[in-house]
Amino acid sequence: MSDKIVLRNAILTDSHKICQLETNNFALDAFSQRQIKYLITKAKSFFVIVEVDNSIAASMVLLNRKNVGNLRVYSIVVDEKFRGQGIARKLLDYAVVMAIKLNKKSLSLEVRINNTNAIVFYEKYGFKKTTVLKSYYKDETDAWQMKIAL
Ligand SMILES: CC(C)(COP(=O)(O)OP(=O)(O)OC[C@H]1O[C@@H](n2cnc3c(N)ncnc32)[C@H](O)[C@@H]1OP(=O)(O)O)[C@@H](O)C(=O)NCCC(=O)NCCS
Repeated sequence: MSDKIVLRNAILTDSHKICQLETNNFALDAFSQRQIKYLITKAKSFFVIVEVDNSIAASMVLLNRKNVGNLRVYSIVVDEKFRGQGIARKLLDYAVVMAIKLNKKSLSLEVRINNTNAIVFYEKYGFKKTTVLKSYYKDETDAWQMKIAL
């Protein structure tokens, strides 16, 4: 893989490129540019991106609710041409470090019940399926909630 990999917080001027990453890689559930801008600026979210040779290869959004002992991985996506190189694993490593810094006891996420690739990836990382969330998505698809204890 390229040497020039940078993980950093997103800024507002990244929002257009992040929007392209989202629409290219999510058939459903892509954030709009408006949502992206909101999440970048909102105090309780962390919007992290991975740049490879100055292109945005991946992004992750973490949601931190005060007085809740869990950090939520709200979104994670790696551009198709950068997959299989350990980038998503790197992002989750970052989420774990952030959760520990924030004194959280777990990381959680929701994933479409039919998104087998992502479920396999999360299970390899150590997440466990906890609860089925019925009709969680706009199109009524169920979600698995998954968690990892820290
Ligand atoms: C799921 C996704 C984030 C994985 O990203 P990635 O950068 O390719 O994953 P990594 O290269 O870091 O893989 C880490 C591990 O998971 C495994 N893995 C990743 N994708 C996998 C797949 N499709 N099938 C099986 N295993 C997979 C890798 O083999 C690797 O295992 P290893 O550490 O034993 O080698 C990526 O495929 C993606 O963005 N998908 C579309 C968006 C999406 O579905 N996001 C999740 C929404 S909840």
